[in-house]
Amino acid sequence: MKIMFYALREDEKPALAEWEAANKDVEVVATDELLTPETAKLAAGFDGVVTFQQLPYTRETLQVLADLDVKNLSLRNVGIDNIDVDAVNEFGIKVSHVPSYSPNAIAEHSVIQLTRLLRRTPEYDKKIAQRDLRWAPEIGKELRMQTVGVIGTGNIGRVAINIFKGFGAKVIAFDPYPNAELAAEGIYVDSLDELFAQADVVTLHAPGLPANDHMINAETIAKMKDGVFVVNVSRGNLIDTDALIAGLDSGKIAGAAIDVYEDEVGLFNADWRGKVFPDARIENLLNRDNVLVSPHTAFYTETAVGQMVKIAMDANKTFIMGQVPDVVAKFN
Ligand code: COI
Repeated sequence: MKIMFYALREDEKPALAEWEAANKDVEVVATDELLTPETAKLAAGFDGVVTFQQLPYTRETLQVLADLDVKNLSLRNVGIDNIDVDAVNEFGIKVSHVPSYSPNAIAEHSVIQLTRLLRRTPEYDKKIAQRDLRWAPEIGKELRMQTVGVIGTGNIGRVAINIFKGFGAKVIAFDPYPNAELAAEGIYVDSLDELFAQADVVTLHAPGLPANDHMINAETIAKMKDGVFVVNVSRGNLIDTDALIAGLDSGKIAGAAIDVYEDEVGLFNADWRGKVFPDARIENLLNRDNVLVSPHTAFYTETAVGQMVKIAMDANKTFIMGQVPDVVAKFN
């Protein structure tokens, strides 16, 4: 059994070595190359492919794999929004993903960033670095005094809810597919509009499906409370960046934490030192004291990376053995 492993990073090597040691019946060849129409040719003679990237998996790439009769693709991440679904179905390629590698990694990040905004630590950090140790005017807000509106109550949203509750916040939530346990607690509001009207903090934990595109836009921001905080650790396309910037300019939005950005591919996880960003909007956001930009690092913990490698490799091996792993991607 042979698996071709694409886009290997340094931080994944220990987990891959551990998996290989426990699966001596599988030959693994790894490359740091992304999966493109060109590099897909490297998979000739392999039984399956394990990969991770934010760039699209195009019809062209999938065609090369199908022509090589490599019909198992295991992604090491949760999002399946960068796959050409029609091509996957047409070529009969089975895809798995890692729907839950460490919800805590991402949920914790949303809470950490929100607490930083509430306690105005970015402003204090700047002042303190200049030896200004005065208190005022950066008076903070307590999380327990906030109503936190959680949009999306899947694995990550639910962990975030528990952490917010641990801080004593009032939590309300919206999800078109409510979770029975949370529903029994009476946590859900009936509509997004209701959530926007009540929430001091709007935190996004919904998938980047086309239906969710720009769910935070000028119109929905207008429905939010004055001085709302917005947190996005989910997918960049959920927020209309121009509307976010306008909301920050007007003061309607008091602060924002974004770990994802609609034009992040090629921008995040790249070294821009000494270079100009190709995108004025990210520059605008980075220059604000009340905006925390993190380059899609919410997921990036040792635990999560280890799980991403292990679950994806297990799934690919399961495919190769002719079975369907429980992490098979469900496209709809
Ligand atoms: C995911 O697992 O889908 C993530 O958002 C992590 C990532 C692509 C960097």
